[in-house]
Amino acid sequence: MAPHPVKGGVTVRPMKRGDVPAAYETAALAFANGSEEARVSDRSPAEVASYRARYHHLIENDPDGSWVAESEGRVIGVALSLRREGLWGLSLLTVDAAHRGRGVGKRLLEHALAYAEGCRARITVSSTHPTAMRRYATAGLRLRPTLKADGAVRRKSLPAPLQGVREGDEGDLDLAAEVDRRVRGAAHGPDLAFMLRTGRLLVCDLPSGRGYAVMQDGLLALLAATEAAVATRLLWACLAEGKEEGMEVRWIGADQAWAIPVVLSAGLDLSPAGPVCVSGEMGPLSPYIPSGVFL
Ligand SMILES: CC(C)(COP(=O)(O)OP(=O)(O)OC[C@H]1O[C@@H](n2cnc3c(N)ncnc32)[C@H](O)[C@@H]1OP(=O)(O)O)[C@@H](O)C(=O)NCCC(=O)NCCS
Repeated sequence: MAPHPVKGGVTVRPMKRGDVPAAYETAALAFANGSEEARVSDRSPAEVASYRARYHHLIENDPDGSWVAESEGRVIGVALSLRREGLWGLSLLTVDAAHRGRGVGKRLLEHALAYAEGCRARITVSSTHPTAMRRYATAGLRLRPTLKADGAVRRKSLPAPLQGVREGDEGDLDLAAEVDRRVRGAAHGPDLAFMLRTGRLLVCDLPSGRGYAVMQDGLLALLAATEAAVATRLLWACLAEGKEEGMEVRWIGADQAWAIPVVLSAGLDLSPAGPVCVSGEMGPLSPYIPSGVFL
């Protein structure tokens, strides 16, 4: 799609590598409301570099899915989307607070959705921002409410060493791809290898079923399995290996009933979170805790 003028002198155009620092700033501020503001501005250089690396990865792999909105030469909005084996995913949609409510988010989403053309399914995870949910629902996605679990893990609740869960590596990417195709109709392709550059892979491969989980920065970033019992073991392993001071498990939808007893036994608190938004044909999406970035 060609650069597209939006009312109010805002242009939507493909994102380039040089836009990454400004796009990061826009997104970091947009998501940092109230108490989160301090946390975002306190990010270490390594954390900022890690966010920016994700943007570079997506621009490189999905240049036609990466868009910015610009006003007076300044980036004021970003949409990053990806396409893997017929599954389109929206990784990021954000508009600078001063420019909201003027159709910029809608235009960015339209451009990102043009990249979904020919895909059999679409997925994103929404924030609880009312406009975000409005945007996704009016774009034809079904909203599936979710919970998140967070808090310090009650160490004494952890089960004895979990048999069958082991540390994975690049040699397990085929197993993960096979699980992904069963669970969500598409493998993660280059995204899983990218995540493993800074993250850990845990694998469970039993005669009864298989699955994997990715941990990044001590948190669960993605989990998929063919059986609930396998997903349960993997989730326990992540909680055991995760950040001492606080874990977070996000996007626990109604289909992930297997996860509820685990997070409650571990002492985490449940609270409402944004919906997983989907359309098309993509498999059962369970047992599955999507990656907020790579879905
Ligand atoms: C979600 C977000 C990207 C939307 O961007 P935006 O540019 O404000 O969205 P739009 O202007 O296209 O849409 C605004 C909608 O809200 C409606 N609206 C109603 N009252 C409004 C108000 N007081 N102010 C703003 N919008 C209002 C508008 O009518 C419009 O809906 P419509 O197109 O169905 O009529 C932006 O709010 C944002 O960055 N939020 C913080 C980050 C976030 O949560 N991102 C989503 C991640 S999943």
